[in-house]
Amino acid sequence: MTDSVNTYDLVILGGGTGGYAAALRASQLDMKVALIERDKVGGTCLHRGCIPTKALLHAAEVADTVKDAAGFGVNAELLGIDMEKVVAFKQGIIDRNYKGLQGLVKARGIDYISGEGKLVSQDTVEVTNDEGTLQVTGKAIVLATGSTSKTIGIDIRDRVMTSEQALEYTEVPESAIVLGGGVIGVEFASVWASMGSKVTIVEGLPHLVANEDEAISKALEKAFKKRKIDFKLGAMFDSVEQDADGVHVKLQDGTVIDASVLLVAVGRGPVTAGFGFEEQGIPMDRGFVLANERQHTGVGNIYAVGDIVPGLQLAHRSFAQGIFVAEELAGMNPAPIIESGIPRVTYCEPEIFSVGLTEKQAVETYGAEKIEKVEYPLGGNGKSTILKTTGFIKVVREKDGPVVGITGIGARLSEQVGEAQLIVNWEAFPEEVAALVHAHPTQNEAIGEAHLALAGKPLHFHN
Ligand code: NAI
Repeated sequence: MTDSVNTYDLVILGGGTGGYAAALRASQLDMKVALIERDKVGGTCLHRGCIPTKALLHAAEVADTVKDAAGFGVNAELLGIDMEKVVAFKQGIIDRNYKGLQGLVKARGIDYISGEGKLVSQDTVEVTNDEGTLQVTGKAIVLATGSTSKTIGIDIRDRVMTSEQALEYTEVPESAIVLGGGVIGVEFASVWASMGSKVTIVEGLPHLVANEDEAISKALEKAFKKRKIDFKLGAMFDSVEQDADGVHVKLQDGTVIDASVLLVAVGRGPVTAGFGFEEQGIPMDRGFVLANERQHTGVGNIYAVGDIVPGLQLAHRSFAQGIFVAEELAGMNPAPIIESGIPRVTYCEPEIFSVGLTEKQAVETYGAEKIEKVEYPLGGNGKSTILKTTGFIKVVREKDGPVVGITGIGARLSEQVGEAQLIVNWEAFPEEVAALVHAHPTQNEAIGEAHLALAGKPLHFHN
């Protein structure tokens, strides 16, 4: 294969969630599509991110269920964790989904091109693989090359790892330091603590999951304390050394913490270097590709989706952006995606969900006198008491107006984001939600009760 030219309606560089969603939707809309991928279709989400971490978190939940069984009158004993089997379980889930996804791409008639692509003109990507190079030309191009873990100069090897290596780690570390109390940090801290590790989180900001409502951060800190997960807040990392005994992490205040392993979870950065974007005049900022609300880069017919575009680094955001671009190219004039309406879930134990504005953002937007809020405790929710979980649902509304933000913390609450996002994105009034009958006894009922309270008629709650 040398320098042959293939022409498509749409050429997509990167087969992660953003890229493959664009490909699947464009093919549905009768476009001739090429999907270029240097590794595996499915990207971070399927192979190194969302799916494998949630598989580990599920195994962790099973371990906790066994440990806590006696409290429900069920005699059981946790005999140990076989981390090799946990990792194999995780891999089985990935393999199954990967096969399904490959089948879907094939069934939709998408030309899957394996190799590393480089943008060489405003309508051509040059793909290099073992067989040579290939010019792939498109009427439109989508850049979807994704993100990778930031390492802030830390040497990642052996006992010092990012989430990518941690997912393959076939031991339960006796102790672990987690650098970064963001989403990845608290999810891995949760997994390892459930498996029996002694975990310490080091976070530079004053709170864990600092992007969430402060009440959520505080509740998580309380829950983690109860779970004996240590955390140091406002603690800046200085350096790490490793030897046969373990890792020795020095903080900027001089404190040294020792553990078996260090997980570096300090954010993810865009993967865009060396792909010819700058050379073609694509607007960039610190490695990110800048795109407008229609995902257009302002150059030729080139669009960008997913983690390379500044904003929430979430698989479902990139699915939506990929679908958006395909529909835009088909002339369907889709509605732009509103970033604050994108639901967010953190799958640590207890789970956290949020959509819309935090209380602080609502105050900044409307003014403190122009908002109303309620924090409905799960103590009033029958199903949650059966599950022995505490936590709350918090709803913020514009005074006499619609709900602008909903968040919650508690075991299994991730699934509650579904109704919450409909309420926020449809700009429902609490009175409207309160009029809808919620099933009893479910955890979902807590969303109904929070809105009953905000509508001035609380049921299992007194405020
Ligand atoms: P993050 O941005 O959520 O958290 C990184 C944390 O590290 C921040 O709180 C930051 O203050 C802290 N930090 C950075 N440098 C530090 C230093 N030198 N010393 C001490 N603390 C420091 O990034 P994270 O957790 O790595 O996740 C990356 C992305 O992946 C996120 O944007 C997230 O949205 C996505 N993700 C989403 C998941 C989900 O939706 N459930 C799960 C995992 C990741």
